Amino acid sequence: MAAGKGTRLKSKHPKVLHEVGGKSLLAHVIAAARKVVPVEHIFVIVGHESDRVTMAVQETGVGFVLQSPQRGTGHALMCAENSLAPFEEVIVLSGDAPLITPETITRLGDFHRQKKAAMTILSAELEDPTGYGRVIRAGQKSDEVKAVVEEKSCTPAQRKLQEINSGFYAFSVRELFASIGKLKTENPHSEYYLTDMAAVLRKAGKRVVAIKTGDASEILGSNTCAELVNIDAKMRMRKCQQLMVEGVTIFYPETCVIDSDVEVGADSVIEPFVQILGGTKIGADCRVRSYSVIQNSQIGDGVTVRPACVLDGARIDNGAVIGPYSHLRPGSEIGEGAHVGNFVETKKVRLGKKSKANHLTYLGDAEIGEGVNIGAGTITCNYDGVNKYTTVIEDGVFVGSDSTLVAPVKLGKGAYVAAASCITEDVPEGSLALGRSKQVVKEGWARKKRSS
Ligand code: UD1
Ligand code: CA
Repeated sequence: MAAGKGTRLKSKHPKVLHEVGGKSLLAHVIAAARKVVPVEHIFVIVGHESDRVTMAVQETGVGFVLQSPQRGTGHALMCAENSLAPFEEVIVLSGDAPLITPETITRLGDFHRQKKAAMTILSAELEDPTGYGRVIRAGQKSDEVKAVVEEKSCTPAQRKLQEINSGFYAFSVRELFASIGKLKTENPHSEYYLTDMAAVLRKAGKRVVAIKTGDASEILGSNTCAELVNIDAKMRMRKCQQLMVEGVTIFYPETCVIDSDVEVGADSVIEPFVQILGGTKIGADCRVRSYSVIQNSQIGDGVTVRPACVLDGARIDNGAVIGPYSHLRPGSEIGEGAHVGNFVETKKVRLGKKSKANHLTYLGDAEIGEGVNIGAGTITCNYDGVNKYTTVIEDGVFVGSDSTLVAPVKLGKGAYVAAASCITEDVPEGSLALGRSKQVVKEGWARKKRSS
């Protein structure tokens, strides 16, 4: 179910597209469901801003059901009747509860089948049940449920119950649609509540049961910004725990922000206050030092990212050393054993094996070979205000400090560029280029000036 507006978030964006752990709430729920059933068996009920929600998750391959207007969770299921007709059972997930795991979804389905129930509710025991529907069991130790009562309709005694409805259910498709017409909208929101199916089915003599989750935090919903942030923190801690099980050392994990889809190899070390985002993959034996932000980047084995680097859409080969204070922008490809140092910015650059650009440099739109030394303060002038041009620097070139390379320009194999040169023409292989005015020395000039 992902058709709701999310009024309590006070946001112009649909609730299920808010992000935790680096992707939307809905994308997390779909990812969990895909591990349990084939993707062709997953339907997302969309309504509020249905185009945006559909676009956001379309590439997963799920099907869609339109609920318009949105008249409650019960109405959402009414709209899905045709899509569900070919199936015997349906598991209903809330698009705003992203911590759910495939294991729990499987347990819910198994329990439902084992109990031959018409409806099975996934419940949880919460320290603070405020805001959730309460599960009213038929007896203290009974599996069977009499009703689910929404908070606003609870009696004071019911409000004290700590067993809450997670918003995840299994239904017999036949029993659900045989009785769904009996739902009424006599409640504070004038909506069709899916939760009322518990009482409806029980009155029809059908079996309604509940199963409790082991880990209550799995079912947390994100109705407010505070809840979103809380879920995000839980999700990121879960991610750090997973990586540590896989052999990654993360110091002060509570200070690190690592997105759900990130991969890190064994024996890598992540220092405090690091962010690793999006589809980033980091190999084995790497060290990412504090205050670095790495996004959508591919990093090989044995790479060191020194403190305070920003990497976005970069590829870094084995054994390279980056930083401190390097900014690698999209299309930066740093070769094996290469070094990129302080205050160096790169964009759309291939820097070959063992090449070095260690200080105060801008390299944009450049193809740089192996074993090249880029001196401090070198700048590729790649932009004339209208177009971008490429700088080619072949293997073994030595670029002296404070040089400007005005593209398009090519420095041939093994060439030298004298310090402080402005290079506007190609430099042939093996030659020295000097692009600066000759130094003039006026002997005794200073002494004369002071005495006058
Ligand atoms: C719901 C349950 C409540 C439970 C809680 C758990 C009902 C009436 N109440 O409350 O018992 O404790 O979840 O998180 O179901 N949606 C639609 N169409 C609609 C309305 C909602 O698709 O017309 C979707 C929402 O996008 C959301 C999900 O259903 O993903 C749950 O809706 P929400 O409004 O968050 O329900 P709660 O008030 O949290
Ligand atoms: Ca909710």
